[in-house]
Amino acid sequence: MQKINNWEWIDLAETGSTNDEALHLTSGAKGHKYIVTAQKQNSGRGRRGRGWVGLEGNLFMSMAVEMEPCKWGQAVFVVSLSLLETVRTLFPTVDIKLKWPNDVLVAGRKISGILLEKGEGGYLVIGIGVNIKKAPQIEGVIYPAVSLAELGYETDRITFLKKYMDIFDKNVNGWNTCGFGTIRQRWLADVKGLGCEIRVRTDKEEKDGIFEGVDENGLLLLKTNDKTEKIYAGDVFFPR
Ligand code: BTN
Repeated sequence: MQKINNWEWIDLAETGSTNDEALHLTSGAKGHKYIVTAQKQNSGRGRRGRGWVGLEGNLFMSMAVEMEPCKWGQAVFVVSLSLLETVRTLFPTVDIKLKWPNDVLVAGRKISGILLEKGEGGYLVIGIGVNIKKAPQIEGVIYPAVSLAELGYETDRITFLKKYMDIFDKNVNGWNTCGFGTIRQRWLADVKGLGCEIRVRTDKEEKDGIFEGVDENGLLLLKTNDKTEKIYAGDVFFPR
């Protein structure tokens, strides 16, 4: 095993899903922090039962870390903020925004995805896919994907990973010392559509309203008519 900061890191040539590999590592583990990456990922999982296409040259990574379940909702904000800051550090002039709950948009298109899964014994597995070289062209998706390279931003998966881990570790330290407030404030400063009309598609329905922010657990605050509703899970769209 190699190391990045104080994480134990395994880089696989090929796997089905780095999340599955990381979940496997959590079995019987205690006091370790793992990163699993793969050069090729053949059956990646996405949010809400979707898949994640594994094009070569892109980053497929999963972190396995022990964390109290009450912090998992906030963790996704630390991760997406860290991804945004990584891209911005590597390419300072980039046009980059966050989209609730955990997307990172470059030039208005999706460059990454995050999938949290519960491991064994208090472990959280955080799966991250970043389109470094190529983006899948999937018919009919409402949010088209793009890669950094396609926009002229050249890097490679390992350079990105190491920069990301430095930024993530720093943000986790800040989160542990100062709480979620500062992370939330920084996340809201870069989120798309704050204060604007948005549409949220949940499993059950579509709702239009004003995007008022997120609460202390990261739930979306949507003002519809005279009340503010909390949305637990869904996809956000921006009507033109
Ligand atoms: C999304 O739907 O936006 C989340 C996609 C998460 C994909 C990553 S790629 C690395 C890790 N392994 C998986 O099987 N999924 C995550």
